[in-house]
Amino acid sequence: MKKIIIGNLKAYLSKSQINNLLKDINQNDNLIIAPQTHFLSEISEKHPNTKLASQDVSSIAKDFGAYTGETSALALKDIGITYSIIGHSERRSNLLENISTIKEKITSCLNAKITPIICIGESKEDRESGNYLSVISRELEEIKPNQKGDIIIAYEPIWAIGTGTTPSEEEIGEIISFLKENTKSLENNVFLVYGGSVNVDNAKAIISIAGIDGLLIGKASTDADELNAIMESII
Ligand code: PGA
Repeated sequence: MKKIIIGNLKAYLSKSQINNLLKDINQNDNLIIAPQTHFLSEISEKHPNTKLASQDVSSIAKDFGAYTGETSALALKDIGITYSIIGHSERRSNLLENISTIKEKITSCLNAKITPIICIGESKEDRESGNYLSVISRELEEIKPNQKGDIIIAYEPIWAIGTGTTPSEEEIGEIISFLKENTKSLENNVFLVYGGSVNVDNAKAIISIAGIDGLLIGKASTDADELNAIMESII
């Protein structure tokens, strides 16, 4: 299987910068780009061959209706979006997203046939106290869906996101094996990716860890040369 590469552009780029990025990155069927939601419609029309993800989805809008300010999974599906990042730690901390909200988002996505990219990961304190496996275990139980459909689980240790620090290959491998073992009973097709300070220097080593299906890349995905170099390094 070719590895999944997800570029989470966060709110780094303007619309023209995103269009330039998409022109400059090499075509790769397993690449998924997540621009800001308000650019998705135009970008999906201009770049029909690029798979796109939203960075969020509504937890309350289950249909087309009276939900001011919300972007429903159905509206995303309507413009051809087939993936959605859910529960990113930046949203959990900045927007106070809680697990019941995250669960609703996962349900909405699966109902709309959108593949959720669900982020979990421990804090620095949990890693240092040795408590990280019980945190990951709890988070995994919390996000387990009740419906069928593909899901991507992104292991993103909070302390690795945007810090330039990554866990060792053994540390990532331990969590990936844990997730693999503990998702076997799900009816979903589960894909496991790693995210947090992935760059051209560490991508190949991380993607070679047993059980990893791909990478979720933040800052490094905003630069076409770096993203192309990462994709070439992991072929
Ligand atoms: P980063 O972000 O690669 O900039 O650390 C990853 C993420 O937040 O998904």
